[in-house]
Amino acid sequence: MKSNTSLKTYPNLDELSEAAKQLFIEIANEAIQQRGRFLVALSGGNTPMKLYEKLAYETLDWSRVHFFWGDERCVPVDDAGNSYGQAQKVWFDKIGATNIHRIQSDLGPAEAAKEYADTLKGFSEPPLDWPRFDLVLLGMGDDGHTASLFPGSPVDVDSPTLAVVANYQDRPANRVTLTQNVINDARNIFILAAGASKAETLKKVLSDTYNPAELPAQRIDPKDGEVIWFVDEAAARKL
Ligand code: 6PG
Repeated sequence: MKSNTSLKTYPNLDELSEAAKQLFIEIANEAIQQRGRFLVALSGGNTPMKLYEKLAYETLDWSRVHFFWGDERCVPVDDAGNSYGQAQKVWFDKIGATNIHRIQSDLGPAEAAKEYADTLKGFSEPPLDWPRFDLVLLGMGDDGHTASLFPGSPVDVDSPTLAVVANYQDRPANRVTLTQNVINDARNIFILAAGASKAETLKKVLSDTYNPAELPAQRIDPKDGEVIWFVDEAAARKL
């Protein structure tokens, strides 16, 4: 495993989420103390929902937290497939979140991708055209995708965002995603993976065979940061 990567295994999703919650709070407090704010990019999907539900009851200066997303599905915010809408329901409503920089999912993917790149520019850390996120939360699909970087998507891109059309399970196809350019400038990255269906792919992604075109989760390689895999025993059973 790369020197910037570590793997933490837990008996189940609840204990995985509890551990991720504690480290989330630690990183957030450190960022607020050192830089006056905490910039976090959230993930969609099912796996992080328990973490979001737990964070809703944590004490933190939420007024210093700026919420972004690693990707979003281009459906209305009240659609069950909208990642922002899901977080709003279980988390933001409880903490009175204010600094929400969501991907404008009601626009078409191309326009939303451009608008999000402009939003990121407003938080840029020169010479970058985007922020150095203090934390990026990611998941991993059974096919090895992460955010909305899917197998076969272009690896060598120089843009911060991409408009994507992807068919995965029964989820919305039109999306916007951060590219690895932004993600890999993050100080900390969590990748959450749980369940037996992830085991085969997790083994491939963490193996020495580098195939970022087909296993986009392998594109995650922070330049000056740490990536921590939070997995449960079912997902880790083939490691
Ligand atoms: C999304 C996510 C996506 C997700 C994986 C895993 O918007 O769907 O960003 O990358 O993390 O598809 O999803 P599960 O956690 O539901 O398995």
